[in-house]
Amino acid sequence: MRLSVDPDLCNLCGVCVLTCPADMVREKQGRIKIGRVMCLECGHCVAVCPRGAISVEEPPRDDDFAEPEAPLIPPEMLRRLLVSRRSVRRYLSRPVRRQDLEQMLDAARWTPTAANCQCQSFTIITDPEKREALAARIVQFYRAYNEALQDREHCAERLAALGLDPAFALHPHMQAAVPAFLRNTDAGRDRLFFQAPAVILVHADTGAVLPEAACAFATLILVLMAETLGLGTCITAYASEALRALPDLRADLGLPTSHQVYYVLTVGYPGEEFRLIPPRRPAQVNWL
Ligand SMILES: Cc1cc2nc3c(=O)[nH]c(=O)nc-3n(C[C@H](O)[C@H](O)[C@H](O)COP(=O)(O)O)c2cc1C
Ligand code: SF4
Ligand code: SF4
Repeated sequence: MRLSVDPDLCNLCGVCVLTCPADMVREKQGRIKIGRVMCLECGHCVAVCPRGAISVEEPPRDDDFAEPEAPLIPPEMLRRLLVSRRSVRRYLSRPVRRQDLEQMLDAARWTPTAANCQCQSFTIITDPEKREALAARIVQFYRAYNEALQDREHCAERLAALGLDPAFALHPHMQAAVPAFLRNTDAGRDRLFFQAPAVILVHADTGAVLPEAACAFATLILVLMAETLGLGTCITAYASEALRALPDLRADLGLPTSHQVYYVLTVGYPGEEFRLIPPRRPAQVNWL
C-alpha cells in the first residue's frame, strides 16, 4: 500500500502518527512522511485522518475506503459490524464496566469447539499495577529475545533456550518488529497493552481437543461482542507468544500447569476514531 499525504490538506494534528502500529508515520520538518518497510497495510492512518489528507496511490479497488455505518445485526448488519471493527491501540483510562466484560465472556461460551470440548478459559487483568508487572516480565523476555537475535553465531540455540519456536522467532517480520518494539518501550510507548484498562488472557488445557482453535474462536467472539458494547480491542501476539514460552509466568498468574495461553486481548473504550473502513484483499477462492 503506497500512501501519500497532501500537505495542503494536512494540518499536522498528529493523530496518524499516534495510530500507526508500525511507527511508519512520522512528522519531519513540518511534513508527514509515511514509510513502507514495516507498514502492515492496515489503513489506520487513512481511516483516522480528520482532513482526508492521506490517500492510497494504487488504483482504487471495488471495496476501496468506504464510510462506516452503525454496527448492528443480520446479515448486512453483521457485515457492518465485521467491517467497522478495527484493532484499537489507544484507549481512554476509564475502567471497563464489569457487566460488559461479563457479557463478552458469556458470549464466548458459545464458541464452536472440537468435540464440543468447551476448553477455553479466561484470566482477566483490570488492576493497572498487575498489568504493569506482567508487562515488565514480558519486556524482559523480549530483551533476551533481541539479544539472541543479535548473536548470529548462537542465535538458534539461544532462541530455543527461551522456549521460542524458530519458525516464529526468526520470521523476518519478528526480526524487524522486536527491536522496534523495544525502542518504543524505551521511549515510554506501550506497544504491548497500550495502557488498556482490561487485558484478557485466553487459555486452555493443552490436552483438550484442538485447544488453540477453541481459544481463537473464543477470542474472536470476545472481540465482536466488545464492539457491540462500544469497546475497542486489540489481539496482542507480543503478550501471548511470551506467555506461551514462560511457564513460570503462567503459574504466577494462577494458570494451571496444563494450560497454555493462546491469545491475549486488550480491551477498553477507544481513544481514537476511525472515519473510514480500510479495504481488504479480495477473498482467495477456488470454486470447483
Ligand atoms: C493473531 C494476531 C496477532 C496480533 N498481534 C498483534 C500485536 O502483537 N500487536 C498489535 O499491535 N496488533 C496485533 N494484531 C492486530 C493486527 O495487526 C490487525 O488485526 C491487522 O493489522 C488488521 O487491522 P484491523 O484489526 O484494525 O482490521 C494481531 C492480530 C492477530 C489476529
Ligand atoms: S491525521 Fe491527517 S491532518 Fe493529521 S497529521 Fe496526519 S495527515 Fe495531517
Ligand atoms: S497503513 Fe497502517 S501500518 Fe501502514 S503507515 Fe498507515 S497506519 Fe501505519
